Amino acid sequence: QFTQRVFSGIQPSGGLTLGNYLGALKRFAQSQNSGVQSIYCMVDLHAITVWQDPAALTRNTRELCAGFIASGIDPERSILFNQSGVPEHAQLAWIFNCVARMGWMKRMTQWKDKAGKNSENASLGLFAYPALMAADILIYHATHVPVGEDQKQHLELTRDIAIKFNNDFGVDFFPITEPVIEGAATRVMSLRDGTKKMSKSDPSDMSRINMTDDADAIALKIRKARTDPDPLPETLDGLNDRPEARNLVNIYAALADITPEQVIAEHAGQQFGTFKPSLADLAVAKLSPISTEMARLMDDPTEIDRILAGGVERAREIAAPVLKRTYEIVGM
Ligand code: ADP
Ligand code: NA
Repeated sequence: QFTQRVFSGIQPSGGLTLGNYLGALKRFAQSQNSGVQSIYCMVDLHAITVWQDPAALTRNTRELCAGFIASGIDPERSILFNQSGVPEHAQLAWIFNCVARMGWMKRMTQWKDKAGKNSENASLGLFAYPALMAADILIYHATHVPVGEDQKQHLELTRDIAIKFNNDFGVDFFPITEPVIEGAATRVMSLRDGTKKMSKSDPSDMSRINMTDDADAIALKIRKARTDPDPLPETLDGLNDRPEARNLVNIYAALADITPEQVIAEHAGQQFGTFKPSLADLAVAKLSPISTEMARLMDDPTEIDRILAGGVERAREIAAPVLKRTYEIVGM
């Protein structure tokens, strides 16, 4: 009944990392030939659930869009836009605020983590964030959403909201969206701690490679990446208790489009003093054309703004009728 459609949102709350590239952007670009419609949203309304400097928010939204385009996502084939440009997201979110229960929201582990002990002082938007996320997905009747571990519970809530709405109003209107679980192999971990995911929000810049880092910065960060003193093993099993070493092998594999087994086969017995420079060369070769293109786009943002405006228009063609029908179902 529902045609297959993928939705994914990324917050413009900071720069893009190698984790975003390998875990999201690169795969999005590769999936373009599948024939499934993809909708990629710079979720600025989510970003402001914690205070954002206005000039930085504008810049980060454009930089995120530049990152998508430079990574090979074709804005003609996919829909690329900023969330606040499509007011239907916030309008549907209000309906969902009235469908979702307080108890559901209180159980969200990310709310507990982010608000912490000082939850009285967190924004109301941060608490209600998952209802907006449900609206982001369901305003397009998206059938599939790529999710990392940390977003699984939110997608579960999106499904609960769709089910409750359909039940409350006796309709079969919203799809029950399926998660597309991201494989562990493309989870990029911190360069300083192999048990934490590489993140733009990590206070240490040495823990991550930013998509805008130059060749020297990339080489330095990989050279300084934490490892153990042993050489690379003969088989992948030899990396089981060596998360930092395993991470560098995974990154190499993802950048080279080969399997971690193949990386080991090619580099077995190598010391990190040898492997790290190879990895750095590979990372620079893959990332520098992208960062060059990002810089070109950022130099004159009119092209980015035009692309986002075009995406807004196409997104609204889908979103407006869904909102209209939702209002009718509710009796408005
Ligand atoms: P947000 O907080 O805006 O949802 P994130 O930066 O957490 O954005 O993630 C955006 C996208 O990038 C998601 O698809 C996420 O799974 C992916 N991603 C982020 N960090 C990593 C990482 N270290 N390894 C793999 N994928 C990642
Ligand atoms: Na996230």
